[in-house]
Amino acid sequence: MIHVKKAFVIGHPIKHSRSPLIHGTWLAEHGIDGSYEAIDVAPEDLPAFVERLRQGEFVGGNVTIPHKEAVFALCDSVDPLARTIGAANTLVRQPDGRIHGFNTDYMGFLGNLDQNAAGWAQGLERAIVFGAGGAARAILVALREQGVPEIVLLNRTPEKAAALATEISGPFVPGALSDYARYAPGAGLVVNTTSIGMHDTRFEDLDLTLLPRTALVTDIVYVPLVTPLLADARALGLRTVDGLGMLLHQAVPGFAAWFGVRPVVTPALRARIEATL
Ligand code: ATR
Repeated sequence: MIHVKKAFVIGHPIKHSRSPLIHGTWLAEHGIDGSYEAIDVAPEDLPAFVERLRQGEFVGGNVTIPHKEAVFALCDSVDPLARTIGAANTLVRQPDGRIHGFNTDYMGFLGNLDQNAAGWAQGLERAIVFGAGGAARAILVALREQGVPEIVLLNRTPEKAAALATEISGPFVPGALSDYARYAPGAGLVVNTTSIGMHDTRFEDLDLTLLPRTALVTDIVYVPLVTPLLADARALGLRTVDGLGMLLHQAVPGFAAWFGVRPVVTPALRARIEATL
């Protein structure tokens, strides 16, 4: 009997996801008899979809906006990191049908910086993170686990930054976006986790000249690939890492779990995805 291993990415909407292209490239590269498809699942249909996974229709899959938090509650087990982050983006069906959830945004963020800015955490005294939403959670935990001594968490709604800093304990200093100028001079890393940068939006009044000349600026927005924040940083000669690498790297652990081969993020894969942006 031919048994094709089927995996998925679910979200709502989902049709613009690049994940099928990433996993499809790896499936072909490794000659694996498997599939990876994007499936639109509305929030009210999420429990029924997880049940389909439990019944064995799929080996597992990815979960994206808006399901990352809701699916966390539907898993039969979750790894400690996903529990800390409070969201799961990768599901694996165990042989007994139980669903195990984990979060690979954490590894995606670190893998991207490690590949494109090797040694970035060495001697880093302070990081500034913009945003206090779902994406910020994984990044805050990742920076904390790297031992960054001070992580300044700035958000349009400062109350949300304060609440998140309390919920995920760590060396977090919450504040408003307008507090940036106070913290910028000692910040070796700036991370944007907000949606600013998409659809021709940009940060207003963000003086990047206040940053040390050695600072690294990174964005999780990857459409456009070079956001206004990254373009401004480059123009000043600061180091930058774009957000596409995070998408590519977060895909690695899921593929390994479902198909048994650990894939590699190559320049060719990146170029292939970049051509579709
Ligand atoms: P995600 O899961 O992608 O992180 P989210 O949970 O909706 O999405 O969080 C979006 C983040 O972007 C929030 O920090 C949000 O700020 P608020 O908490 O004040 O809403 C931030 N954000 C979105 N649009 C913004 C804008 N135009 N200006 C400033 N911050 C913005």
